[in-house]
Amino acid sequence: MVSKSVSDRRLIRPFLGRSAMGFALLVLAFLIPNWATANGQHAFVGYQKCRTCHKKTEIGNQYGAWLESRHAKAYETLGTEKAKKWGAEAGVDNPQTDDRCIKCHSTAHGVPDERVSRKFDRTAGVQCESCHGAGKDYKKKKIMMDRDKALEKGLIIPTAELCTGCHNDESPAWDEKAYTLTDGSTAGFDFEQAVKKIAHPVPEGYDPSATGGAD
Ligand code: HEC
Ligand code: HEC
Ligand code: HEC
Ligand code: HEC
Repeated sequence: MVSKSVSDRRLIRPFLGRSAMGFALLVLAFLIPNWATANGQHAFVGYQKCRTCHKKTEIGNQYGAWLESRHAKAYETLGTEKAKKWGAEAGVDNPQTDDRCIKCHSTAHGVPDERVSRKFDRTAGVQCESCHGAGKDYKKKKIMMDRDKALEKGLIIPTAELCTGCHNDESPAWDEKAYTLTDGSTAGFDFEQAVKKIAHPVPEGYDPSATGGAD
C-alpha cells in the first residue's frame, strides 16, 4: 500500500508542476495586456481596422485599391481549378489548407492566434498588414500621422525584399519573363513596375488634421 502511494505521487508530481507553470503563465497573460507585444511582436488586427480610415476618398481610398487588387483575392485563388492542378503536381491535396500554398496567399501565416485579433480573417488574402506590418500598435490616428512614431510601433514601408519574400521562384506561378526591364532584359519580378501596378497613394495636399482630429 505504502509503496503504491509513493509511486503514485511520483507519477503525479511532474504534472502538478507543469500545470502550475501553465497557470502562472495564464495569470501573467492577463496581468500584462501587452505581453505579446513586449518584445516588438506586434499583433495583427485585419484589413477591416485599416478600412475605417483608409476607405475615405480624401485620404485616397487605399482600401478600395487593395480590394480591386489580386492580393485581396489571393486566398480565393487557391480554390480554383488551376490551383488544384498545380497543387496536385506538388503533392498538395487542398491548396487552401496546405502550408506550402497558404504561406504566400494569406496574412499572418504561422502567427499564433494570441497575436491575431478575434475578428481577423485568415481567408482574406494578402492584406495591408502583410506589407505594412502588424497594426495593433500603430493604427491610432495620432500615431499614424507621425511617421517616426508609427515606424517605432511597427509600421513598415515596404522594400523590394519584402515583396520577393513571396514573389520568387518557389511559387508555381513564377514566370522568369513576367517583367521587361529598361535594358530589354526580362525578370520574374521588378519592384518599380510592380509597385506601380498596386499603387494606392495619399493625394497630394491631403491634410489629416483637417478631417476629424486625433482619434
Ligand atoms: C484612425 C484612422 C486610421 C487607421 C485606423 C489606420 N490609419 Fe493609416 N493613416 C491614417 C492617417 C491620418 C495617415 C496619414 C496620412 C498622411 O498624412 O499622409 C495614415 C498613414 C498611413 C500610411 C503611410 C505612412 C507614411 O508615413 O507614409 C500607411 C502605410 C498606413 N497608414 C497604413 C495603415 C494600415 C495598414 C492600417 C491598418 C492596420 C492603418 N493604416 C490604419 C489614418 C489611419
Ligand atoms: C505574403 C505574400 C506576398 C507579398 C509580401 C507580396 N505579394 Fe504580390 N502577390 C502575392 C500573391 C499570392 C499574388 C497573386 C494573387 C492571386 O492572383 O490570387 C500577388 C500578386 C501581385 C501582383 C499582381 C500580379 C502581377 O504580377 O501583375 C502584383 C503587381 C504584386 N503582387 C505586387 C507586389 C508588390 C509590389 C509587393 C511588395 C510591395 C508584393 N506584391 C508583396 C503575394 C504577395
Ligand atoms: C513563394 C510564395 C508562393 C507560394 C509558396 C505559392 N504561391 Fe501561388 N502565387 C504567388 C505569387 C507571388 C503569385 C502571383 C504571381 C504573378 O502573377 O505575378 C501567385 C499566383 C498564384 C496563382 C494565380 C496564377 C494565375 O496567373 O492565375 C495560383 C493559381 C497559385 N498561385 C497557386 C498556388 C498553389 C496551388 C500553391 C501551392 C502548391 C502556391 N500557389 C504556392 C506566390 C506563391
Ligand atoms: C502588396 C503590398 C501592399 C499591400 C497589400 C498594401 N500596401 Fe500600402 N503600400 C505598399 C507600397 C509598396 C507602398 C508605397 C511606398 C512608396 O511609395 O514608397 C504603399 C503605400 C501606402 C500608403 C502611403 C501612400 C502615400 O502616398 O504615401 C498608405 C496610406 C497605404 N499604403 C495604406 C495601405 C492600406 C490601408 C492597405 C490595405 C487596405 C495597404 N496599404 C495594402 C504596399 C502594400
